[in-house]
Amino acid sequence: MKDAYRVVPGLAELGDGRISYAERSMPLLSALGARFLVERPFEGLTIAACLHVTAETAVLVRALRSGGALVRLAASNPLSTQDDIAAALAAGDGVEVFAKAGVDRDTYYEHIALALAPDGTAADGGGPDLVIDDGGDLMSTLHTLARPAVLERVLGGCEGTTTGVLRLRRMAADGTLAFPVIAASDTPVTRLVDNRHGTAQSVIDGLLRASGVLLAGKTVVVAGFGACGVGIAESARALGARVVITEVDPVRALDAVLRGFLVLPLADAAPIGEVFITATGSADVITGEHLAVMRDGAILANAGHFDVEIDVRALAALAVAVQSDVRPHADAYELPDGRCLLLLAEGRVVNLVAANGHPPEVMDLAFGIEALTLARLAGQADRLPVAVHPVPSDIDAEAARMVLAALGTRTDSLTPAQRSYLASWRLGS
Ligand code: ADE
Repeated sequence: MKDAYRVVPGLAELGDGRISYAERSMPLLSALGARFLVERPFEGLTIAACLHVTAETAVLVRALRSGGALVRLAASNPLSTQDDIAAALAAGDGVEVFAKAGVDRDTYYEHIALALAPDGTAADGGGPDLVIDDGGDLMSTLHTLARPAVLERVLGGCEGTTTGVLRLRRMAADGTLAFPVIAASDTPVTRLVDNRHGTAQSVIDGLLRASGVLLAGKTVVVAGFGACGVGIAESARALGARVVITEVDPVRALDAVLRGFLVLPLADAAPIGEVFITATGSADVITGEHLAVMRDGAILANAGHFDVEIDVRALAALAVAVQSDVRPHADAYELPDGRCLLLLAEGRVVNLVAANGHPPEVMDLAFGIEALTLARLAGQADRLPVAVHPVPSDIDAEAARMVLAALGTRTDSLTPAQRSYLASWRLGS
C-alpha cells in the first residue's frame, strides 16, 4: 500500500510541532516515557492501536516506543484524524500508521486490519502482543479475522471508552472474547477527569466551533446523565443555559433532579429544546418523531462514540433541502414547513470531529493509565484470565500521584496511629 494512501505526506513538520506543544501539558506521559526508556517494558513486543489520531495520542505512542514497542496505529474515526500528526508519527517515530482524514468506511476497516496484520503478513511474522482500542472496532475486527494462534499470542488489551467496554462485556458474555482486556474507561480517575471534565469542555468546544451559538439563555437538552452527560450539563449551565435532562436510569434521573436540572421525557423536551446533545452510548435516541416537532433553528449534536444516537437518515428523509457546511461541520436541513434544523459533525462525535477532543491534560491521565496498564500486562508472568478486568487500583493511584507531583501539589498522608485506627473494628482503638 502506498504511503499516500496511509497518511498524507508533507505535513510531518507541522505535526511534530503540535505534538511537542501538547507534550508540554502532559507531564505523566513525559515521565512515563523517560521511565520506559530505562525499563523497556515492551522490548520486542508489537502493540496494535486504534485511537483518534491526535497530538495527545502521538505523545502516548512515543512513550510506548520509548518502552521498546513496535507500534501499528489505525484511526478510531476517520473524521477525527489529524493528517499532520499521522504524517509526523509515520516519518519520524518509526510507527506504522494507517490513518487518513475522511477515508470511507471500507478503507477505515482496511486500515484496522493492516494495523492488526492478523494474516501473518507483517514483517515480524504475526499479530500483536498487546492491543489498545477506543470504541472496540480493533478488538472486534481482531476476533473476527484472526486465527486462534494470533488470538492466543495477545497478552491483553486495553479499552478506553465506555462504549467499547460495553461491547467487550457482550463478547465476554457470549464466550467470544479470547484474551484478557482491561476496562480503562472505568476507573475513578478516568471517570472524573476524562468523562467528566474532558467531555465537559471538549463537547462544548465542538458545539460552539461548529454552531457559533450563544448558550446563555438557551434551552439545552442533554440526553443521558452518565459521567459524560453530567459534565456537559454542568458546563452548559455554567454558560447560562437552561438545561433539561432526559434519562432512562432512575438513579441518574434522581441525581439530575437533586442537582436542580429539569428532567423530562425526550418527547416533551423535543418541542422546547434549542440545542440537543446526545450522550447516552445507546442507539436511536433522537428519532424522526422528535425531529418532526422541534423548533425552527434547533441544533443537534452527538457526544457519543458512534453516530447512532441521532437518526440522521430520518432527518434527511424529512428535509426538502440540505445546505452543507453553513459553518465548518454544520449542515442545515430545511423542512417542508420552512423550519430548519442544524446538524453538527454529521451526527458523529462532535468533540473530536468539530474540535480537537479532550485537552492534553485530560488525555495525559487517561493515556498514562493505559500506558501503565499495558506495561503491567506486558510484565505479567502468566496471562490474566480471559475476562474484562478493572484497572488495578494501584495504577489509578500512581497516575494521580504522579500528576499531583508534576503540578507541585502536596498532600497529607495518614499517620501510623490513623492507619491502625482505620484498620481496626474495636471502638477507641
Ligand atoms: N478522545 C477524546 N479526546 C481525545 C484526544 N484529544 N486524543 C485522543 N483521543 C481522544
